[in-house]
Amino acid sequence: MRLLPGHLDLAAQRALRDRIHALLAEAPLYRPTMPGGDKTMSVRMSNCGPLGWLTDRAGYRYADRHPETGRPWPAIPDALIALRDTVTGLPYRPEACLINRYDAGSRLGLHVDQDEGDFSAPVVSVSLGDQALFRVGGATRKHPTRSLRLSSGDVVVLEGESRLWFHGVDRIYPGTSTLLEGGGRLNLTLRRVTTAPSG
Ligand code: SIN
Ligand code: FE2
Repeated sequence: MRLLPGHLDLAAQRALRDRIHALLAEAPLYRPTMPGGDKTMSVRMSNCGPLGWLTDRAGYRYADRHPETGRPWPAIPDALIALRDTVTGLPYRPEACLINRYDAGSRLGLHVDQDEGDFSAPVVSVSLGDQALFRVGGATRKHPTRSLRLSSGDVVVLEGESRLWFHGVDRIYPGTSTLLEGGGRLNLTLRRVTTAPSG
């Protein structure tokens, strides 16, 4: 796993925040349901890109439409495509960008990103807004974990072996950033979903 602290400066964070807010007007945040349908998540979600990650009563999957509006997801902002190219050195396009919105009490349980058809492509995630306590382990749930605080502008790359490591967000730290009006945190996760083009 690679952590790139402060990869985005304040101007880049503000520009990206504004793009994401514009895009959320088209594809509003919604509160996802866990498979089975008994529990909702404390994180609200949306997506951009040809495909978006969803969870609902029926399970986890990728879909090309917003579950509530029925409209295709908006395009991934160019700045995010460029960022991914820069940090991975890989030119092919990510297909999905999951947008997670954390409020003061939100958390995300330990999980592996494994609903994609290709694990060779790295997962790139960008943090905006309040700091988060990010926990990362290894290939099994039993593996020891370590915790790190992610700040606004930080980028995490899960690649190689770490592509399939367990990770999650234990809490956020309200009041640690003024980037987002009303506080909270946005995380943008870029993924390749179908097979990555070779060469
Ligand atoms: C995720 O694993 O989907 C998001 C991680 C984060 O919010 O930093
Ligand atoms: Fe994840």
